[in-house]
Amino acid sequence: MPTDGIELGESHIVMARKNLNIGLVGYGFMARTHSNAYLQAPRFFDVPYQPILKAVCGRNADRAKGFAETWGYQSVETDWRTLVQRRDIDLIDIASPNDTHAEIAIAAAKAGKMVLCEKPLGRTAAEASAMTDAVEAANVPNMVWYNYRRVPAVVLLKQLLDEGRFGRIFHYRSKFLQDWTISKDLPQGGEGLWRLDLSVAGSGVTGDLLAHNIDMALWLNGPITEVTAMTETFVKERKHTLTGNVEPVGIDDASAFLCRFANGSLATFEATRYARGHKALFTLEVNGEHASAGWDLHDLHRLQYFDHRDESRLRGWKSVHITDSDHPYMKHWWVPGLQIGYEHTFIHQIADFLQAIGKNEKISPSFADGLATEYVTDAVLKSAKTKQWEKVLA
Ligand SMILES: NC(=O)c1ccc[n+]([C@@H]2O[C@H](COP(=O)([O-])OP(=O)(O)OC[C@H]3O[C@@H](n4cnc5c(N)ncnc54)[C@H](O)[C@@H]3O)[C@@H](O)[C@H]2O)c1
Repeated sequence: MPTDGIELGESHIVMARKNLNIGLVGYGFMARTHSNAYLQAPRFFDVPYQPILKAVCGRNADRAKGFAETWGYQSVETDWRTLVQRRDIDLIDIASPNDTHAEIAIAAAKAGKMVLCEKPLGRTAAEASAMTDAVEAANVPNMVWYNYRRVPAVVLLKQLLDEGRFGRIFHYRSKFLQDWTISKDLPQGGEGLWRLDLSVAGSGVTGDLLAHNIDMALWLNGPITEVTAMTETFVKERKHTLTGNVEPVGIDDASAFLCRFANGSLATFEATRYARGHKALFTLEVNGEHASAGWDLHDLHRLQYFDHRDESRLRGWKSVHITDSDHPYMKHWWVPGLQIGYEHTFIHQIADFLQAIGKNEKISPSFADGLATEYVTDAVLKSAKTKQWEKVLA
């Protein structure tokens, strides 16, 4: 039959790329961000692998099928154990609640699969340590989805710090503020509310929110040596969705800590789900001898920067709009002046991962990096109980 154009055939686009068969666990919020990233990364980045959406796994077959149809997965599983044993899967991506991470990741590593896992890596450092041991023993590529490391403005800040522009660092401060659990009528447990159930989540805002701040801080400013913390559970009992009973709430609703970094700087961190008016206000500020910088997630395409070495008459805070082609990642997107957003952090992370495995290089944040964050969150939770300064395991 005559056609108006040149037929390329199905394999044309992926000709130069090897296939990478993905098996995704979960069909919730993060499953969507990851699926979008697998589809978009090869369209915008020159990557050596073509992710193939082979299978999605969820316990409800109908919902898993619906998700598979929406995102283009070829098949559905209802038990992650079957998924992990499938020979046609190269990579297991864990986007299910925290209590499932360790068992799935360890089984996947033993089956020789690459393993990507949502944060926090485990519910505790002990779980995260066993997971790290498993991927290292199996020698399989591994990564934790601390996606905020891939915000272009944050990567620019990392470059400026590594160039030594700040001089000695004195202060680091970081917050993550939300307001969605203030109502005492909100139940705990079950779909969407597993974050309020200690047995599933492992902790409250310390593991859910502060883990992001801590991962970013360790990457930007180096190791944390000791912490002193306080936590509070404002609503002490909530109805449990799964049992129907009113049960004690075990998670921390708010968490704040002071700490010292190995580089001598002092820091404050705070996270809460009780800051009325704030939805996902992740902020950070660094103060050095020569320069300071600040960033916040609600304005994620801007980096605030102050350099004391500027001519005194014009010295002041700059708000740099991160959209030019010489800004990190931006040459892959639109034209200068047009900003990108949240979903792009996941696309950048998977593009970096595909490039790294193509070159047989390590990728960060690895499981070992995820474990480093959990040593800090464990120390924070311990200090809140002991009311003492606690050392962070290295
Ligand atoms: N990187 C980030 O910024 C970020 C943001 C949100 C959540 N997370 C993390 O991602 C993970 C998932 O969170 P979410 O917000 O997507 O949760 P969600 O509740 O939206 O989705 C979780 C999914 O896991 C499925 N699931 C639960 N148990 C399962 C099992 N045994 N087998 C297969 N599927 C199972 C649920 O059915 C659901 O589809 C958590 O670890 C969370 O901490 C990370």
